[in-house]
Amino acid sequence: MNKEFPKGFLWGGATAANQLEGGFNLGGKGLSTADMIPFIPKHERTSDNAVHITSQQFKDALNEKDYGIYPKRWGVDFYHRYKEDIALFAEMGFKVFRISISWARIFPNGDDSTPNEEGLAFYDDVFNELAKYNIEPLVTLSHYEMPVSLVERFNGWTDRRLIDLFVHFAETVFTRYKNKVKYWLTFNEINAIALAPYNAGGLIHDRHENMQQAIYQALHHQFVASALAVKACRNIIPGAQIGCMLARLETYPETCNPLDVLKTLKEEQLNFFYTDVQVRGKYPNYMQRFFKENQISFVTEPGDEEILLENTVDFISFSYYMSLVESTGPQGERASGNLFSGLKNPYLESSEWGWQIDAIGLRITLNKLYDRYQVPLFVVENGLGAIDKFNDQGEIEDDYRIDYLRKHIIQMREAIEDGVELMGYTSWGPIDIISVSTSEISKRYGFIYVDIDDSGQGTFDRRKKKSFYWYKKVIESNGKNL
Ligand code: BG6
Repeated sequence: MNKEFPKGFLWGGATAANQLEGGFNLGGKGLSTADMIPFIPKHERTSDNAVHITSQQFKDALNEKDYGIYPKRWGVDFYHRYKEDIALFAEMGFKVFRISISWARIFPNGDDSTPNEEGLAFYDDVFNELAKYNIEPLVTLSHYEMPVSLVERFNGWTDRRLIDLFVHFAETVFTRYKNKVKYWLTFNEINAIALAPYNAGGLIHDRHENMQQAIYQALHHQFVASALAVKACRNIIPGAQIGCMLARLETYPETCNPLDVLKTLKEEQLNFFYTDVQVRGKYPNYMQRFFKENQISFVTEPGDEEILLENTVDFISFSYYMSLVESTGPQGERASGNLFSGLKNPYLESSEWGWQIDAIGLRITLNKLYDRYQVPLFVVENGLGAIDKFNDQGEIEDDYRIDYLRKHIIQMREAIEDGVELMGYTSWGPIDIISVSTSEISKRYGFIYVDIDDSGQGTFDRRKKKSFYWYKKVIESNGKNL
């Protein structure tokens, strides 16, 4: 028999402004980096063009003032439909809803002297609406976007001035929403910068001679900015909780050959590196070797070490979709993932997008993270992207999604039984939203269907899927009725 989850467990769903809101040029919002990412049809997609942007693409996007082929500009129109959407989340019984605040909606150019009041008021309205239903907002300060102007003028996060600008943005929203939001996250999937430097850091592919160098410089600035945001949050909102956010890459060795095990350990360190800095407060020793061997050096300033050490996070949040395999032997077929890929695991099945489904891996990951850090954990992304089709009765019977989520929830419960402190679970995309990696909507994660296609054509009407009723039961029974 399934067991209940701890009292007060935060069940809900997770989204990001740029994939959800739309209204890219409304309410005084400036262009954001996400507004510049084109939709690429499947047959033209390479692993590279899903995560990089060139100067030419950036220029083309700047010249396109309307919607063009940029799906994150229309999102799923939460900007106008948030009341309807929040009512649906409330009907499912959400305790928490994860959104991000678009920096460009608050500071259209990133360094404006005053914030955009219309943008601030929009999130006030959203938080008020959530409060009506006792849904706690969980707010990410930076989820794969920043004002475009900061890329044009500063080359994104490579410039140290971004730290102050970001902290100013963070202080502005902490002050404005201090009575409305008590759970915060700093940078979404902070490790993504290593593979998707444009999405995560505003770094344009051909503008940097040494991309590796630029990445770790930008990352250092983000670490410092994140720590200063933690500090500001504590000063401005006593009692708030602020966490980091990692794309957790659970990695297995292909064999018990010690060489494979060692390689896997090294890969895992490269993933834990980020939480090591944000939770333990300093760059781990193993990274010195990595930087040396890869000829990476970056500039730090006196005082940075103290900032990192004194302002560590309250909890770790992470995304978990799949696991990876590493080997020192012949490299066989690779399995894809949102931004990361690994070797194919013969014991696992894959989603339609080739992501390997591994619910037990979530339990393993929860245990590993908790063993290593001993701070509360929060699964803030997990879910199945799939093509949904209506049946003859006009319904979407997404049993595949239910099956995926059920298996992962069971393993979370097991991890709690193992002793892991888990605050909550927000499945990714409770309503269909635009994919981050491919900018399509045909890859759907939602309990709620949105009637549009990849080119943004459709009514934008919302429809409940079978999983909607299932998740409602899960929350009602606090995880017992799966
Ligand atoms: C995570 C991101 O990497 O994965 C989300 O934080 C993203 O923004 C999610 O949407 C799923 O990836 P995709 O490419 O299927 O949208």
